[in-house]
Amino acid sequence: ALPLIFDCDPGIDDAIALAMALRAPQFHLLAITTSAGNQTPDKTLHNALSLCTLMGRTDIPVAGGALKPLMHPLVIAEEVHGATGLGTTTLPPVTCQPAAENAVALIARLLQESAEPVTLAVTGPMTNIALLLSSWPHLKSRIARIVFMGGAIHGGNVTPVAEFNIYVDPEAAEIVLQSGVPLVMAGLNVTHQALVMPEEVSLVRALNNPVARAVAEMLDFYMPVYRKHPRGLQGAAMHDPAVVAWLLQPELFLSEKRWVGVETQGRYTRGMTVMDPFGQNGMAPNVEILTQINRAGFIELLLDCLRRY
Ligand code: BDR
Ligand code: CA
Repeated sequence: ALPLIFDCDPGIDDAIALAMALRAPQFHLLAITTSAGNQTPDKTLHNALSLCTLMGRTDIPVAGGALKPLMHPLVIAEEVHGATGLGTTTLPPVTCQPAAENAVALIARLLQESAEPVTLAVTGPMTNIALLLSSWPHLKSRIARIVFMGGAIHGGNVTPVAEFNIYVDPEAAEIVLQSGVPLVMAGLNVTHQALVMPEEVSLVRALNNPVARAVAEMLDFYMPVYRKHPRGLQGAAMHDPAVVAWLLQPELFLSEKRWVGVETQGRYTRGMTVMDPFGQNGMAPNVEILTQINRAGFIELLLDCLRRY
């Protein structure tokens, strides 16, 4: 199985991504680490522990990471994910403890100890990963690749050009993007195609196990946020689950290799992912950008993963 560390900020779509990953036999999940993003770091850590309890995986170490972005105050997404970060869904009381180590130290240790290079799935701001790469640069060779949800090729969701995960910590994202580690990017350009339609929520609910019921309830909260948005999507965007979907079934996607950098200074453009479409800047491509997803195949995969509970 693929050795994997999952760095996230749950978050409704992070929770759904975890639900897809936690019972997938294709993964050997070494740890879940949390970042500050959708909610404050105490809440994202607590949510990760509750989700592990709900999903019967209290064996996986869970560690909290950086309490704030590298350079700027934290911005959260309470209007999308609610006051707890998981909509209005209440989860069972937590039966596990966070790891004593900080997320960044834990990832470093696991990279050192693993016999094989480890894949990192990153579905929140990249603060922890930037701290890891800056503190232990020699561990880069221990990372097979970083598959991340973040960025956008055309049009953001926080500002006209910036996507939330990159916007929260652009300096961290730039460190990761220019690190030389192999990168796969699931940006808004593909995650806005990874939609769950309103009528598909009942297919999730009909699986009728505790995890599927919680996911359906979270989708009930999350769906109207998307449907109300002026972008005019017909369903709810499964941003973070796209990362897990690529790891499980890359054949569901099309991709292009390009150079991408993050704007950390712009007056209007801070947090923008700048993609070089024609190789004009002479920089070698550093990112495999996911461009298209087979939506029907994605929904089938989501249901298959949720059926395992
Ligand atoms: C990203 O921002 C968060 O709100 C979601 O969890 C996702 O990771 C989408 O822009
Ligand atoms: Ca997220």
